[in-house]
Amino acid sequence: MRIPFIAGNWKMNLSVTEAVQFLQAIKGKLPDPKVTETCIAASPLFLESMLKQSAGTPLIVAAENCFYEDEGAYTGETSPKALQEMGITHVIIGHSERRKYFNETDDMINKKVHAAYRNHITPIVCCDETMSRRESTNRISWVVSQVTNALQAITSEQAKNIIIAYEPSWAIGSGKTATTDEAEEGCYLIRQTVADLYSDDIANQVRVLYGGSVNDENADDILAQRDIDGVLAGGASLKPDSFLKLANFL
Ligand code: G3P
Repeated sequence: MRIPFIAGNWKMNLSVTEAVQFLQAIKGKLPDPKVTETCIAASPLFLESMLKQSAGTPLIVAAENCFYEDEGAYTGETSPKALQEMGITHVIIGHSERRKYFNETDDMINKKVHAAYRNHITPIVCCDETMSRRESTNRISWVVSQVTNALQAITSEQAKNIIIAYEPSWAIGSGKTATTDEAEEGCYLIRQTVADLYSDDIANQVRVLYGGSVNDENADDILAQRDIDGVLAGGASLKPDSFLKLANFL
């Protein structure tokens, strides 16, 4: 039985003060982590304050990105080793905005997945799908290739704990959510690719999320889909009330 995973990605929004106020507003209102795991991914600037504020609560505080080396002359980058030392247990890797604005390649994303595991951090790997890819004939191979490339040389033992998000960029921030069939199809593709790379057993342990204009009006239909174990919400995670609605759906 896969425990549902409800995550928010704050991106470059809120201030440290607003982040602390958010955590104070949700304290005591999150579901039992044995029923649903909840997570907020935030800027490196917020993580230490958030870890302090969320101590003793079920909330997982995640990073939105990390570099693929643990240390060195990489100005502006975030060390996965330093994230682990401060208590971060999850990190988003390969978000479509990283691919789009920072030219992240599948190879870089695979190196980051290895770096996360090297530092005992669970990767939340994002698979993008642009509208042009969607309308082209090779849309399925695009999602499959991203998963395959992200998991290069990742062992079965590592893969079974990974979290993978199907985040069609044509649905991100647009208010145009994928239909439940589209969301399920993308998540099924991801799970099937994991089964092909490893085994049905590993594929059934992996958590697959949908992200792209999720909100409290469409989340229940999305979360009811067989291959969807949770959501990765952007806008709907910025306010305590809307995040709590998503977190307590199941
Ligand atoms: O990582 C989640 C994000 O890309 C989705 O954003 O605002 O469409 O929910 P949003």
